[in-house]
Amino acid sequence: MSQIEAEQAKLMAKTEQIVVVRKWGIGLSFHSLIALFIAACIITGFFLTKDSKQMVEEDQKNSQNDCDLFSGKWVFDDKSYPLYTEKNCSFMLDDFACEKFGRKDLKYQQWRWQPHDCDLPRFNATALLEKLRGKRLVFVGDSLNRNQWVSLVCLVESSIPAPLKSRDRLFNGSLFTFKAIEYNASIDFYWAPFLVESNCDDPFHHRVQYRIVRIQAIEKHARHWTDADILVFDSYIWWLEDTIKVLWESSENGNATLEQVEMVRRYDMGLKTWADWLEKHVNHTTTKLFFVSMSPSHLRGEEWGMEANQNCYNETEPIFKEGYWGSLSKPKMMQELEATIEKLKMRGVKVDILNITQLSEYRKDAHPSIYRRQWVPLTEEQLSKPPSFSDCGHWCLPGVPDVWNELLYAYLFYF
Ligand SMILES: *[C@@H]1O[C@H](CO)[C@@H](O)[C@H](O)[C@H]1NC(C)=O
Ligand SMILES: *[C@@H]1O[C@H](CO)[C@@H](O)[C@H](O)[C@H]1NC(C)=O
Ligand SMILES: *[C@@H]1O[C@H](CO)[C@@H](O)[C@H](O)[C@H]1NC(C)=O
Ligand SMILES: *[C@@H]1O[C@H](CO)[C@@H](O)[C@H](O)[C@H]1NC(C)=O
Ligand SMILES: *[C@@H]1O[C@H](CO)[C@@H](O)[C@H](O)[C@H]1NC(C)=O
Ligand SMILES: *[C@@H]1O[C@H](CO)[C@@H](O)[C@H](O)[C@H]1NC(C)=O
Ligand SMILES: *[C@@H]1O[C@H](CO)[C@@H](O)[C@H](O)[C@H]1NC(C)=O
Ligand SMILES: *[C@@H]1O[C@H](CO)[C@@H](O)[C@H](O)[C@H]1NC(C)=O
Repeated sequence: MSQIEAEQAKLMAKTEQIVVVRKWGIGLSFHSLIALFIAACIITGFFLTKDSKQMVEEDQKNSQNDCDLFSGKWVFDDKSYPLYTEKNCSFMLDDFACEKFGRKDLKYQQWRWQPHDCDLPRFNATALLEKLRGKRLVFVGDSLNRNQWVSLVCLVESSIPAPLKSRDRLFNGSLFTFKAIEYNASIDFYWAPFLVESNCDDPFHHRVQYRIVRIQAIEKHARHWTDADILVFDSYIWWLEDTIKVLWESSENGNATLEQVEMVRRYDMGLKTWADWLEKHVNHTTTKLFFVSMSPSHLRGEEWGMEANQNCYNETEPIFKEGYWGSLSKPKMMQELEATIEKLKMRGVKVDILNITQLSEYRKDAHPSIYRRQWVPLTEEQLSKPPSFSDCGHWCLPGVPDVWNELLYAYLFYF
């Protein structure tokens, strides 16, 4: 593995301390939402006949189904975005709060994802909460999945009307919970960067020198989300590091083996454990399952025409070259995931891939870079070279993960 990949892997491990903000959520009033909606209707002019809204919804339903939501382009849209404000979200984490940490150009918050053949349905937090009434949605994975969880909680919280406040963050071991009390709806995040067990399972202290993955073991994690109604998984970046060792027990004599296994192979082994568990333990007819594809990092400026020592630092515009794909997103790993999910399908378990890789590839402007909390004090030398400590893996919020959630929303309602 190259220096830069090693750096990235370390970066992903570095963030994980959480400041609990004890504060009630502040809701955007229901009336201002209605006003916004009416304004949007007038602009787009579909409020013409009495039942046109219903027709639009029907149309949307029909056209969404055969539209590839993941193929499209970014359009600057400061009328509709951002969907919430950073400081109004009581669940915001310092890892993603770019404005709070000094970022001045805020255009990264105002890009809309425009699929080529249809529109994304408008995110409606109230409708989502209605859908989640009495249910539990759990994100399971690494800090990118947590990035998406925070985004969803912010999206939802900003719309809970003032008298129906959401509850404080709760955390218990690796499980983080947001509960919308009036709806009895939970939106949780569970820390399991490899999905299977590993020595990186502590949600706060997982900077270990040598990663060891118990490739056949998932029960310790999985029992926390067996009962979920909707599961959203991710797991990619942690598998890249070269020094990972894989631990497994032989079924014959029970002896444990610790070995280095090639990257795609170890990913395959871990995914197999995950897939077997899903097949045995979740109710296939009632549980909705999603896997978020790999989130790209922007560490190699030369790949989009900058100097080799540049990365996402100081980037303020997306990449507009259609089909741009960085070398840190490994197609082989994606194919492995696809194959696992295809096999699961043949066994009667449907998992939808939220294929966010391509659309996120374009967003070199949307990472925190230096505008986030540094959990480890920086040296003089680092300070003199900002790209050296830029986080080009996670995403500022509001930002790209909001779009991932709009895609999740579209799947929950229309697919
Ligand atoms: C954010 O919170 C402030 C203070 O409560 C409020 O005035 C403002 O309208 C909120 N903004 C949004 C977009 O919700
Ligand atoms: C959002 O969904 C709720 C519940 O389904 C609905 O009553 C409301 O009209 C929707 N709001 C917008 C802006 O579409
Ligand atoms: C609340 O939701 C949970 C699932 O998340 C369910 O088990 C429970 O029965 C619900 N409680 C009520 C009062 O509806
Ligand atoms: C924390 O999780 C454990 C294991 O699931 C459970 O037994 C315990 O009751 C939880 N504690 C709280 C405070 O929720
Ligand atoms: C496996 O374990 C058994 C009994 O615990 C021991 O006798 C044997 O030597 C071990 N085999 C290897 C290959 O380590
Ligand atoms: C799955 O859930 C459905 C609906 O609640 C139920 O009828 C069915 O028995 C469940 N299947 C299993 C295998 O538990
Ligand atoms: C950052 O970008 C601005 C505008 O493109 C440029 O003037 C400045 O030199 C850049 N700074 C660094 C450190 O690259
Ligand atoms: C995701 O999208 C990319 C580019 O659009 C495509 O190459 C890849 O095969 C897709 N992967 C999956 C799992 O659908």
